[in-house]
Amino acid sequence: MASNRYADPAIASALERGDTLPARWYVDTDVFQAERERIFHRTWQYVGHVEQLKNAGDFFTTHLGDMPVVVVRDTEKAIRAFANVCRHRGSEVVLECAGNRKTLQCHYHGWTYNLDGTLRAAPRENEQRAFARETLSLAPFAVETWGPLIFVNPDSTAAPLRDLIGELPAIFERAGIELAQMRMIRRDTYDLASNWKVVVENFNECYHCPIAHPKFSQVIDTESYRVDIDHEFYSTYYGPLLKSPARGVTYATLWPNLMFSMSANPPSMQVISAIPIDAGHSRQVVDYFFADDLSDEQMRDYVEFSDLVTREDVVLCESVQRGLRSGAIEHGKLMLSRERGIQHFQKLVYRWLST
Ligand code: FES
Ligand SMILES: [Fe+2]
Repeated sequence: MASNRYADPAIASALERGDTLPARWYVDTDVFQAERERIFHRTWQYVGHVEQLKNAGDFFTTHLGDMPVVVVRDTEKAIRAFANVCRHRGSEVVLECAGNRKTLQCHYHGWTYNLDGTLRAAPRENEQRAFARETLSLAPFAVETWGPLIFVNPDSTAAPLRDLIGELPAIFERAGIELAQMRMIRRDTYDLASNWKVVVENFNECYHCPIAHPKFSQVIDTESYRVDIDHEFYSTYYGPLLKSPARGVTYATLWPNLMFSMSANPPSMQVISAIPIDAGHSRQVVDYFFADDLSDEQMRDYVEFSDLVTREDVVLCESVQRGLRSGAIEHGKLMLSRERGIQHFQKLVYRWLST
């Protein structure tokens, strides 16, 4: 393998000191391309919830980085994922966001794939000698579920999902979340003019909360939180409630781009993905999960509060992007007592790009 241009001992030691990644890593299109190939094409990423695929033939489409993906429940009731890229001339096979189909027929020239990804038929294939249909299946990706959550990895040789999530299931239980009981009831998306790493990093600390989230800071004790960085692929922190002895909010960030916010009373969870679009843009997808017994009013209050905080965060992230893009600073300086989660995340970014 050629020597890696991102391996730089000076960056590694700067991260140890609590400097942030170089500002140019948030704006440079070469870095972004390297992240696509080295991170998003070879890590487990959350794509949705099993109830989106209740019946055989149910499907939805999504992206892992720039990779178009179709996730489908096949005729044997197994969940499968494929590159949503036609073996004919490379069109996306399926354009719709979701639906139910007996086959995956490409919208361009009608090549038709079975739900297991094999090519069933191509118009006029009888006119072509030795058309090797069996060599023209959709590229299969690894799929695993954790409770009701579906994860896909384009690297079909990847280590299993459980190696990534480690003790997170026990942390969810302690946070008051029984994953099997949670139902996804809503998805909101926010388009941001900021790099995906800025979005993850903003979630990883509550140092900004007293200043930037006044309403949130009336509810959550933003002073006493402690970040736990003892695990390889995720960090967590806990925010106690200010006016109640009830269990507070547990936050978790799972490599590379998934974030959880979990409350016990009532049991509620947000599963948040920071989807990279280009070096300067990302899409934040917020999936809301509740246990069955939540009233409409409770749900509305929860979603409104969360939306307010997210909108405040969008302003922060876009402001960071403009500053990093300006060239005025080479890197930032973390306040480590509060921002160890960012350091934990940035070390993983560096590790993936440099090895
Ligand atoms: S590109 Fe799919 S059928 Fe032609
Ligand atoms: Fe925030």
